[in-house]
Formats: sequence, C-alpha cells, structure tokens
Amino acid sequence: MHFGINPALLCIFLQIVNINGHLSNLAWNGGPLHLQCERESDFWMRSGQYIKENVIAVKAIMHQDDVFVMTPRLKPGVLATFWLIVKDKSQVELQPYPELRDHSVGDCSAIQNAVDMYLDHLGKLWVLDSGIVDTVASPQCTCPPKVVLINLLLRKLVKRIDISSLLEATSLIQNIVVEYEFGKTFIYVSDASRGAILVHEVTSGASWSVVTCAPATGLQILLVKRPAHTVLILVRLHYQGIIELDTTALRRRDSLTPLTVFGEQSKPVVLLGADGFHVYLRHTECSDVLVWNTKDPYNSSRLDNIHSAGPRLTTTSVAAEPLKRILLILDTNYLDTLQGNSPTYHRITFVSKNN
Ligand SMILES: *[C@@H]1O[C@H](CO)[C@@H](O)[C@H](O)[C@H]1NC(C)=O
Repeated sequence: MHFGINPALLCIFLQIVNINGHLSNLAWNGGPLHLQCERESDFWMRSGQYIKENVIAVKAIMHQDDVFVMTPRLKPGVLATFWLIVKDKSQVELQPYPELRDHSVGDCSAIQNAVDMYLDHLGKLWVLDSGIVDTVASPQCTCPPKVVLINLLLRKLVKRIDISSLLEATSLIQNIVVEYEFGKTFIYVSDASRGAILVHEVTSGASWSVVTCAPATGLQILLVKRPAHTVLILVRLHYQGIIELDTTALRRRDSLTPLTVFGEQSKPVVLLGADGFHVYLRHTECSDVLVWNTKDPYNSSRLDNIHSAGPRLTTTSVAAEPLKRILLILDTNYLDTLQGNSPTYHRITFVSKNN
C-alpha cells in the first residue's frame, strides 16, 4: 500500500488541505524497513547490511500522492539511499525504490550514494550519485560518480550518465539541478572544491565545467525562474552572500559573465529548496525556515518565516508539490545522531502554499 490517496479522491483531498492548512504530518525514527517479505529484514539486520539507526533522511519530495526520501550513505548499514514512504497501520515504513537491487553497493549500474536529487516537471528524478559510500564513518570509493535517472511514472531506473570525466581527484560534488532549454536537457552539478558548475547536455553527451566562485567546503545551487530567463542561485558554505548567475552563461561555457551578489553584509545562509521564484533558506545559526520571493530584492531582515523546526531539530529540505500547492518540510535531529547512536527522529510537515 502506498502512502496517500486514490486520485479519484483528489478533490476531497484538496478541500481538506485548504480547510486544515496541511496534511497530517509524518514522523518516524531511523529507517523502519518495508520489504515484501518480513523475514528479509531479519536477514539484512543479522548480516549488518541494515542498521536502522544509520538511515538518516536529508531530503523529502512528493510526486502525485507518493512521498519519497533520500538517505545518503553516511555510515554503514544503509540498505538503500532512496525510498518510498509507505504508511502501514499509521506507522511510517521505508520501501527501497524503485527496487532494493538498484542500491546494491559495489554494483556500478546501481546507485552507490545519492547525495542530491532533482525532480523535474515530467516526473523524472535526477539522482546525483557520488560513488563514495560511508562518507562520515570511513569513506570508500565503490564506483565512478554518475547521474541516475528514475522515471517515477514508470517506477523504473531508466538511465545512467557517467560524469567522471568532469571531475578531478579533489572534486566535492554536492547539488544537482536540471534545466530544459530549446529542446535540450542540461544537468548542472556543483563542485565545491573548484567553485565550479559541471554542465552536461544529455542529448549530445557534451560536458564542460564553468568556474563561478572561489573554492569552498560546500557549494549549494538552486534553479530559480526570473520573468525572462532562469538563474542559478549559489551559496558557499559559511560565506556571506548569495550569488545569482544567468544559466545562459553556463550553456555558453562563459566564466566571465558578471554575477549578481545579494546579502554580502548579511548572515550566511543554507539553501533548503526552490519553487518557481521562491527560495527557501535558513540562516546558518538558526532553525527558522525563511522564504525569499526573488521578485523582491534580497533583504535578510525582511524574509517571511514559514516554519520553525523546534528544539534540537534542523530543517534539511523544503520541496514543493506544484499541483497540490503543498510544501514538504523535512526536520531531523541528525546532528545529534551523527555523534551518538540514538536513532534519528524525522518529521515531514506539510504546509499549504498561499501565493
Ligand atoms: C531591510 O529591511 C529593513 C527592515 O524593514 C530596513 O530597515 C533596511 O533598510 C532594509 N535594507 C535594505 C538594504 O533595503
């Protein structure tokens, strides 16, 4: 049984959302497994390939009525890195998606470590696979880095794109976004170690990289719609300033295009997600989720607060379900659990979009 409702009930569902302002929230500890056969999870647990406490979700998305989470392989025992949320007797369980074998460590046709993902308007999910597992415990390169395409409508892994020729030995790839432009599909991946954006055009297979800023330990990117064009929003970890770059420059392989920088004197931010012309972010030291309507100039003291994670919790992602005008906000206590052994507490809050 999948989480959510029958499409026939969509109208009723929308009314419920409008009246109550949100769907009922989801909460769970660690990674409760949902497999076809009960005995299977005992097997995985005994063999050490599944350690519930180490399954830490950092990103949540919704497509039609399904909610999915991404759980990078930070520590051993993470059986899969992308899951469908299944509600079983009001309990939340995680089902490897599309299949358990699509996450098999050491099989280079499978996803080794999903570090980021981008859901496009066609129901295609672009997964950035670093090829390095157990990144917090003891990093191990198991396969070359790649982008994996999962078609959520077909419930299948449909494409694998090798991006190793774009990377250097020190590359630190972090985020992926995808833009459709003039009948072409462009993948943009951030590489923090070079302050670069790696570009890959899917149809022709051409790739190149564009240096956009100084190196950093983290480089987050988001795609935002401006009235006449699309821009990439970039944030360097622990640095002040939000960089805006016209994606035309990336497609022209042009490093010399002037950048726009916002909030150079304001507090550093962490990007959480984007939806059209809205950017969701938080100040590094604070847990409140803020929204910047990019039609207005950036002013860090004039951002609307849409959510507060609460004590010991951190928001790690905000994603929109455009048709239902809902935002999914994922909060966890992962900072605590990465240090200790307590299971990670996860909560997804559904917030209806007003504008
Ligand atoms: C930002 O907003 C604050 C509060 O409304 C205002 O005092 C300040 O002048 C604004 N800053 C800029 C650069 O517009």
